[in-house]
Amino acid sequence: MRAATDLAAPAAFREDVLAGLSAPIRAIPARWLYDRRGSELFEEITRLPEYYLTRTERSLLQRHCGEVAAIAGEGNAVVEFGSGSSAKTPILLEAIRPSAYVPIDICGEFLRESARSLTRSFPSLPIHPVQADFMTSMPLPEAIAAEPKLGFFPGSTIGNMVPRTAVNLLRAMKEALGIGSYLLIGIDRLKDVGMLLRAYDDPAGVTAAFNLNLLARINSELDGSIPLDGFRHKAVWNDPMSRIEMHLEVLRDLSFTVAGLGFAIPAGETIHTENSHKYGPRDARLLLRAAGWSPVKEWTDPKGLFALILAEAEAIRFAP
Ligand code: AVI
Repeated sequence: MRAATDLAAPAAFREDVLAGLSAPIRAIPARWLYDRRGSELFEEITRLPEYYLTRTERSLLQRHCGEVAAIAGEGNAVVEFGSGSSAKTPILLEAIRPSAYVPIDICGEFLRESARSLTRSFPSLPIHPVQADFMTSMPLPEAIAAEPKLGFFPGSTIGNMVPRTAVNLLRAMKEALGIGSYLLIGIDRLKDVGMLLRAYDDPAGVTAAFNLNLLARINSELDGSIPLDGFRHKAVWNDPMSRIEMHLEVLRDLSFTVAGLGFAIPAGETIHTENSHKYGPRDARLLLRAAGWSPVKEWTDPKGLFALILAEAEAIRFAP
């Protein structure tokens, strides 16, 4: 275990964990779920039979990217927010034939990996990786300043934000991309609660491992003594908020230390680790409109599980 004063542990992680464990309603921001192990487990989640989101979105992209190109026009510079492993990106790039590709991601390793694999498939495509946390800044390279732009925000990552944060982010995307640009966004739909709960609490226990890994990360990076067997993964549907919540539920009265500070949590209490909002068709369109994006076209699968929406950045108009 590392020392409590280990400078390698990012200060922001330490701050968020200590504040989150001390808060009256305990919560740790979901972004900390994604260390190397967490990212691997998330990739595993995307292949689970119960986790319909990834394969449904992929098949929507395969089916409809031609129409996206017909509406947005070929030759746009594609700006992807959170390039991740870029698994879905080639489908879009194939159809759009972009002038350039700009992946924005906080993780330099992901950026390098995705740029490497895309260069192999698209050798003549200019790729301009931007290492940034797009939640706080999205500096676009000068090279695409004059190009028409298509933003790409797949995976229903927007659902991991509370609506206020989601609207702020969408507004910032509009500002960065400019009036007249397009945004292709994947949004998970509201549906049968049983199906949602199975997707976020799979019988193989991969989502549980993904959630519990946060505690292992705290122990290893912040010199914690959290007993991992004192917690269980819990997925709940919060209907008024229209979201699945992931929690870590305490199984017995616990006391432990993190970064030299002591914590005691009674049995039954939880640490809230993630929200995954689900939107009805009108809700999703309203969310986009609230941020100044006009939905132009929407595609969904036959069961209406997931939506792919193409929206255009509209100029502000007077409204009554
Ligand atoms: C990344 N994000 C869109 C996933 C979701 O569905 O909210 C994260 C996830 N959490 C548990 N399973 C998947």
